[in-house]
Amino acid sequence: MNESEMRELLTRHGQTQVLRWWEELDEASRAGLMEQIGQIEWDKIVPHPEDGRRGRIQPIEGLTKEEIAARKEQFFAVGSEAIRAGKAAAVLLAGGQGTRLGSDAPKGAYDIGLTHPHYIFEQLILNLQEVTKACGASIPLLIMTSDKNDAETRTFFEQHAYFGYPREDIFFFRQAMAPCVDLEGKILLEDKARLALSPNGNGGWYTSLVRAGLTEKMDARGVEWYNVFAVDNVLQRICDPVFLGATIASGKASGAKVVRKAEPHERVGVLCLEDGLPGVIEYYELSEEMANLRGADGSLVYSFGVILNYLFRADVLKSIADQRLPLHAAKKKIPYLAPDGTFVRPEEENGYKFETLILDMIKYAKTCLPFEVVREKEFAPIKNKTGTDSVETARELLKRNGVEL
Ligand code: UTP
Repeated sequence: MNESEMRELLTRHGQTQVLRWWEELDEASRAGLMEQIGQIEWDKIVPHPEDGRRGRIQPIEGLTKEEIAARKEQFFAVGSEAIRAGKAAAVLLAGGQGTRLGSDAPKGAYDIGLTHPHYIFEQLILNLQEVTKACGASIPLLIMTSDKNDAETRTFFEQHAYFGYPREDIFFFRQAMAPCVDLEGKILLEDKARLALSPNGNGGWYTSLVRAGLTEKMDARGVEWYNVFAVDNVLQRICDPVFLGATIASGKASGAKVVRKAEPHERVGVLCLEDGLPGVIEYYELSEEMANLRGADGSLVYSFGVILNYLFRADVLKSIADQRLPLHAAKKKIPYLAPDGTFVRPEEENGYKFETLILDMIKYAKTCLPFEVVREKEFAPIKNKTGTDSVETARELLKRNGVEL
C-alpha cells in the first residue's frame, strides 16, 4: 500500500482523522502508522446488522455428572489412548488484559500464594502435568498472548524454567489486535503515529494459530483435538482424558465443560441449541421465563453454564476459520490522544473495543457435547481482586482441593 492508496482507503471508511499529525511525522513513524492502517480488518470494527440476532432457543442434551461417573473408565481409556497417540493439544488463552484484576502484568503471572509464591501459570502447568503423568505422554501447550503482554509472558516463563514443563512442548503465539473507536465509530490514536489498539478477543485464537504457522506444526505431530481454556480458572482439568474420551465417543465435533447453574440468574453463559445448532446464550439474553424454567424433576432447564473449557476437532476448525464470527462491542475507558495533542485517560467510557468470542465458534462446529463437571472441583475463576470470582474465592477452592498456598 502506498500513501495515496492509504488515503483513499481511509476516506472510503471515514477515518482520515488518524492522519491528523501526518505532516509532523518522520519517515519511520509514517511507515509504522501506514503498516498499522494496512493491517486493519475493516469488517472487525463495524458490527454487522446480524450480530447479536438470536434464533430459536431450545435446551440441549448433555452428559450429566452421574452418567460420566458411571462410564469414567471407558472414557478415560479412549481419551488417554488419544493423548498417548499425540492427538491432543492444549491452548491457553492468555491474550486478555485482565482489567478487572487490576494488574498490569499478564494475568497468569499473578501470585496467588500465601506462604510462598504460587502463580496462576504455575497452577495451570501443575494441572496439565497431572494428565501428562497419568497418560505417560507429552502434550503440546500453545500459549496465546497479545502485543500488550507477549514479551512479559515469555520472559516470565523463562525466568521460572517453564515450571518444569518441557520447553520443546511450549509454543507461544500472538493474537491480532483491533483498533478502538470513539462513541461515533472513529478510530482513536494512542499517540501521533500509533492507533489505539486492543486484543481482538478470544474468538481469534484459531486464525492467530494458523497465522503463526502452528497448525502446520500440530498437523505434523498428528494433533486432532484442541482443548482451549481460559487463563483464569485455576482448578480446571486441562486435556482431561475423560472429557476427551467422552467427546470422541460421542462422535461430536466439539465439547464444552459445563457446571450446573447455582441459581436462575447466575452470570454465566448457557449452552443451548439455537435454530437447532449448539450455541451459548449470555445470561442477560435469557428471558425471565427461560431463566426460571424447570423440568419435570424440578431442575432448571437452561442450566449448563459454560466455564470456557472447550474441545474442538481440528478438521472442523479449518472450516470455522473461514466464517465471520459476530462482533461484540464493549464500551470501555480508552486512553487516547485528543485533537489538541493532549493525552487523555478518561474517567468515563469514551469508546468501544470490538471482540470476537470463542463461544460463537461452537455453532460452526455444528455438534457439541455438554460435559457436566463438579463445580467445586473444576471451577475457580479469578476475575476480580476481591468478592465473587476473585483471588480470595479461588484460594479457598484450591485449598479445599488440597493445594498448599
Ligand atoms: P475475559 O473475558 O475474562 O477477559 O477473558 P480479560 O481480558 O481476561 O479480563 P477483563 O474482562 O479485562 O477483566 C476470558 C479468557 O479469554 C482470554 C483471557 O486471557 C481469558 O483467558 N482472552 C480474552 C484472550 O486471550 N484474548 C482476548 O482478546 C480476550
